Amino acid sequence: MAPVTSITANVNARLADALTSALPEAGGADPLLRRSDRADYQANGILALAKKAKANPRELATQVVEKIVSGDLLADVEVSGPGFLNVTVTDRAITETLAARSADGDRLGVPLKEQPGTTVIDYAQPNVAKEMHVGHLRSAVIGDALRGMLDFTGEKTIGRHHIGDWGTQFGMLIQYLIENPDTLAPADEVDGEQAMSNLNRVYKASRAVFDADEDFKERARKRVVALQSGDKETLDLWQRFVDESKVYFYSVFEKLDMEIRDDEIVGESAYNDMMAETARLLEESGVAVRSEGALVVFFDDIKGKDDQPVPLIVQKKDGGFGYAASDLSAIRDRVLDLHATSLIYVVDVRQSLHFKMVFETARRAGWLSDEVTAHNMGYGTVLGADGKPFKTREGETVKLEDLLDEAAERATAVVREKAEKVGLTEDEIVENGRFVGIGAVKYADLSTSANRDYKFDLDQMVSLNGDTSVYLQYAYARIKSILRKAGDSAAPVAHPELELAPAERALGLHLDAFGDLVYEAAAEYAPHKLAAYLYQLASLYTTFYDQCPVLKADTKEQTENRLFLCDLTARTLHQGMALLGIRTPEKL
Ligand code: ARG
Repeated sequence: MAPVTSITANVNARLADALTSALPEAGGADPLLRRSDRADYQANGILALAKKAKANPRELATQVVEKIVSGDLLADVEVSGPGFLNVTVTDRAITETLAARSADGDRLGVPLKEQPGTTVIDYAQPNVAKEMHVGHLRSAVIGDALRGMLDFTGEKTIGRHHIGDWGTQFGMLIQYLIENPDTLAPADEVDGEQAMSNLNRVYKASRAVFDADEDFKERARKRVVALQSGDKETLDLWQRFVDESKVYFYSVFEKLDMEIRDDEIVGESAYNDMMAETARLLEESGVAVRSEGALVVFFDDIKGKDDQPVPLIVQKKDGGFGYAASDLSAIRDRVLDLHATSLIYVVDVRQSLHFKMVFETARRAGWLSDEVTAHNMGYGTVLGADGKPFKTREGETVKLEDLLDEAAERATAVVREKAEKVGLTEDEIVENGRFVGIGAVKYADLSTSANRDYKFDLDQMVSLNGDTSVYLQYAYARIKSILRKAGDSAAPVAHPELELAPAERALGLHLDAFGDLVYEAAAEYAPHKLAAYLYQLASLYTTFYDQCPVLKADTKEQTENRLFLCDLTARTLHQGMALLGIRTPEKL
């Protein structure tokens, strides 16, 4: 099927042509088109152009109007205010454009990028042998949505789950396991919850011995050296911790209704073989220097307390490599081997200084060039209802699984209230409850701009009123029920010859803007823009539904055309929510 040019883009092109013929030196200038309450669009670009050409803006605007070719697209263009243009498009243009979208299946007429790049997204990166926390949830949810949007534009995306699977704490864990071999059951014999509780137990027990017993501490330290030098027995035991943790990670991702691919779990340890070379290249090129035995990189603009420079540590005094060395090696891999043109890191905003230093170092070393962008999409902290960082009443971090279970439970109660009326079976209630609960958690996260903190408030999240996923899911299900009700008696058919009511026009123009919006949100790494678009779509649909009878319309054609608007709204909601990783049950 064929991609469709949006009405906005078409109007923009007409105005730009007229502008150029009225004022040739303005060739290619942007008419600055915005949706408006006065008319369908307002163009604000003429003021600045007139100023530049020392012309009277209202006169220039009048000349532009005279040059416009309206065709079937424009119903009316008038000069307003100091030199704005108010533009109204024809009903026919709206319906015909939407019909072309409707004929294009799931893509809804949205084109694929002609020259897609490759974006590597670093997201969903928990740590081995540690409980996942709400921060990891944000990274997973935001990264997955970002990826959905980018994929939809045709960009090639590669996921990298940079899990914390390396470091000195493994010396302690492995040594403990050697001395207490039965504390960890084989990974294929446990479920996610058991895996985590076993890991927790080993972690706590080994920590206790480590703190109390100097001899054990020494054995643990030797174990780190054995691990780093690739000792087989040690590596095998390390692998057990990784495997056991993965059982747990996958169980959480499954609860989150999120697909994570094993070949994209590429943790810190995967870059071990590159670290020494990374350090050597940085030292030889002079990007990194030796300072008190360590290999470090300095920055003019990064200073800590007492105005002392804060360096990035590539290699520690004892020869060990840490977090920065693995991130620098990962950049080499992602740019030179995976041929990334964009790198995104969905990581807590509190790590933004780390990424600033890592990116700057990679630029100096030539691993990041002007052709490659690198961006830390830093997300804010999840707060409890009290506005403080999210903790249990006992002050412990909240277990992710408990949280998702509770969301599903609350949502199931909401779904159950209407279940009888809608005719849901018990299985459907449970399944929908899960999708509504997870959707609520994801949407609450995605609907605020990522860098802001947000309050985790389950009551608000599963509320049927307001900017929640449940509201959107209900809007979708309501439309599906109307379409089912229409059944065989009336089908969705576009009728471009029909006049449209104001609510139909508003809904139609918004539907048409879907593709442009997804491109914009993807380019700006802003899933919250897609969330806001969908919320507005549902609101415009509600107004339409209040004002325009569908099954009881005046004529058969009008019923068909309104069913057509219903159908396209449902499909756009479904697709938009899917890009955000949220399901839309058929009956709710
Ligand atoms: N595992 C880290 C954490 O839990 C996040 C890793 C982020 N990614 C990266 N390339 N450094 O804080």
